[in-house]
Amino acid sequence: MKKILLTGDRPTGPLHLGHYVGSLENRVKLQKDFESYILIADTQALTDNFKNPQKVKDHVLDLMADYLAAGLDPKESTIFLQSKITGLYELTQYFSNFVTFDSLKHNPTLKTEMAQKKLNNMGFINYPISQAADILGFKGEIVPVGEDQSPILELTNKIRKQFNKLYGKDLFPPVQGLYSPVSRLQGINGQQKMSKSLNNAIFLKDSVDEIAKKVKSMYTDPLHLRIEDPGHLEGNMVVYFLEIFDEDKLGLEKLKEHYVKGGLADSVLKKRLIEVLDFKIAPIREKRLALEKDPEYLKLLLKAGTEKAHEKVEETMKSVREVFSLSLE
Ligand code: TRP
Repeated sequence: MKKILLTGDRPTGPLHLGHYVGSLENRVKLQKDFESYILIADTQALTDNFKNPQKVKDHVLDLMADYLAAGLDPKESTIFLQSKITGLYELTQYFSNFVTFDSLKHNPTLKTEMAQKKLNNMGFINYPISQAADILGFKGEIVPVGEDQSPILELTNKIRKQFNKLYGKDLFPPVQGLYSPVSRLQGINGQQKMSKSLNNAIFLKDSVDEIAKKVKSMYTDPLHLRIEDPGHLEGNMVVYFLEIFDEDKLGLEKLKEHYVKGGLADSVLKKRLIEVLDFKIAPIREKRLALEKDPEYLKLLLKAGTEKAHEKVEETMKSVREVFSLSLE
């Protein structure tokens, strides 16, 4: 039997290269080897966007298009809408009894986000528990996510152990995070993690002109004033991105050597990066453009995935309800 993989994203904007190297690429590679569930986390997105639910709704099909364009195959991966899986709300409520307010407040993922977003509403504070329910509702075992999510996976394991122990059941298997080597891709400004809200992202739907504009805005080496000056690689954002995305490693070594020696213009490095990024993004962008034109198809797929996901969670919930709630059957 295949192990169960579960992960997802909040539908708040188009996916960017950080999502791609951080987790999406892994999911596409692994979808045949696991029973894969991919969640569009609209309920979670509402925890910090509750004043503007339309924004969340508007990005659901967008995210679906990004997923399919990046290579998730609906025959292999069940893509579904979190808000429609009612068992997850119920599971969140039961799990909330196991977690203290103090431990949540000190959860590093939440703590960072609460400070960044200046939020302390209960829905937001509770979202790590709801995320644990997302994973355990499916009896998920493998969770490909960015490394920033690891404290939430720790919490998930704590909850599942407590459940199994308290009620003498072996219902939930261990949960393992799957982190990509580039878990925290920097933004084009080189100061923070790539993120739409920080305005430093290259999106999977960007045109070649947009990619070029963003690459041209990247800083290279402030000491490299004239072409013949020796260039420096450290902190050079163009080199940073080339090292991650250029598959011609030998060619890149030569380019770097030349740059360090002097005589290679920044514009040559940038031209190479534009080529390399467009090579990755162009097939995704084209597939996405076609998908965008057919929202009904996207909806149909999402509906089918959501129905399948609902059934899967109901299976788990049968055993969970036996523990917490008197059967009226
Ligand atoms: N918190 C994740 C993010 O912001 C999204 C998410 C919600 C998720 N539920 C999940 C990821 C369950 C993995 C497993 O990207």
